[in-house]
Amino acid sequence: MSNPPDHDSVTAVLAGVSDPESGRPLTEMGQVRTVTATPAAIAVTVGLTTHAAILWNATRGRIEELLRSRFPAVPAVTVTIEPHERPPGKLGQIGLEAKSVIAVGSGKGGVGKSTIAASLAIGLARAGSRVGLLDADVYGPSVPHLLGLSGRPQVDNGKIMPMRLDIAAGSMPVMSMGFLVPAGEAVVWRGPMLHGAITQMLRDTLWGPLDYLVIDMPPGTGDIALTLSQVLPLTGAVVVCTPQDVALLDATKAIAMFRKVNIPVLGMVENMAFFVCPDTGKRWDIFGSGGARRTAQELDIPFLGEVPIQIPIREHGDAGKTAANYDDPAARPYLEAICTRLVGNLAAATAARPPLPSLPVL
Ligand SMILES: Nc1ncnc2c1ncn2[C@@H]1O[C@H](COP(=O)(O)OP(=O)(O)OP(=O)(O)O)[C@@H](O)[C@H]1O
Ligand SMILES: [Mg+2]
Repeated sequence: MSNPPDHDSVTAVLAGVSDPESGRPLTEMGQVRTVTATPAAIAVTVGLTTHAAILWNATRGRIEELLRSRFPAVPAVTVTIEPHERPPGKLGQIGLEAKSVIAVGSGKGGVGKSTIAASLAIGLARAGSRVGLLDADVYGPSVPHLLGLSGRPQVDNGKIMPMRLDIAAGSMPVMSMGFLVPAGEAVVWRGPMLHGAITQMLRDTLWGPLDYLVIDMPPGTGDIALTLSQVLPLTGAVVVCTPQDVALLDATKAIAMFRKVNIPVLGMVENMAFFVCPDTGKRWDIFGSGGARRTAQELDIPFLGEVPIQIPIREHGDAGKTAANYDDPAARPYLEAICTRLVGNLAAATAARPPLPSLPVL
């Protein structure tokens, strides 16, 4: 029989858990806000600095597991995570309020950037973060179609009200040139107009404070990447490619381009990585296999994960129901793994910076 829990023995367990962002034990930085312990129940409240809701859930699970195994006789263990609210700073001259801005690009067209960008945004939002999605593909905006959103945004006092996608955790603001230009109409943009259109969508949209802004880039991203790098500090870019040599070659060029305009590359996603035949269960490597993982390794960037080629993913996209990929057990684990690795890497990058100041104990 283990001793009944008390404040000190519960705190000792919490000392074994690190803040996912700072990497320091929770007890060192004043992040343990409350501890109550009786033989019948343990309740702790912990403040985390990260805005990644996925990491709150993971940390809560870890603490619960440790407390349950240390105090198996206690029937009720409750762990509450409170964000240590770091209000999002205003970014660049455009004053966008976001903690992380993530661009999703590739070199080659049609590899699934928009699908992955929308899925990343939806995955982060479903976990509870405040997320916005900007379709920066001004020539061929596909986000409205993939998400089943249409209509013209209201303009109020020179500010554009974004369209909103309903998801379980609330609704996500989405902005695209597709909402501003009639469908099917060809748009001819010159470089400066392109710059203006992107800047305007970033600056004049009423995004509200965001944890993440995800940006879906057009193929062959040179111009837009340059514009983005000029108007706001991007956290970094996720590069999507297929395992095919030609796509990998283009992805390598895209990575070089991002590096040239000082946009950090956060990692690579391999889309259409393989096909599992629903009739036989046999795996087919339609575009080859493992190429993106190898390329990521060669270029010394993180590999964030793979997504198989699947008829439901295409059907959901065509039907404007990209969010339904999270209801599909054959797609969901892949998409969630990519979200988790991405936010984990971002938190680890923050951890590599000097330690954060201690949090106030409430
Ligand atoms: N893993 C997948 N399985 C099946 N279909 C997919 C998958 N990923 C994307 N698709 C489909 O492939 C098509 C192209 O995807 P998407 O529009 O996301 O590519 P893109 O790289 O953004 O293209 P563009 O270069 O035109 O912007 C869409 O019809 C989409 O539904
Ligand atoms: Mg696209």
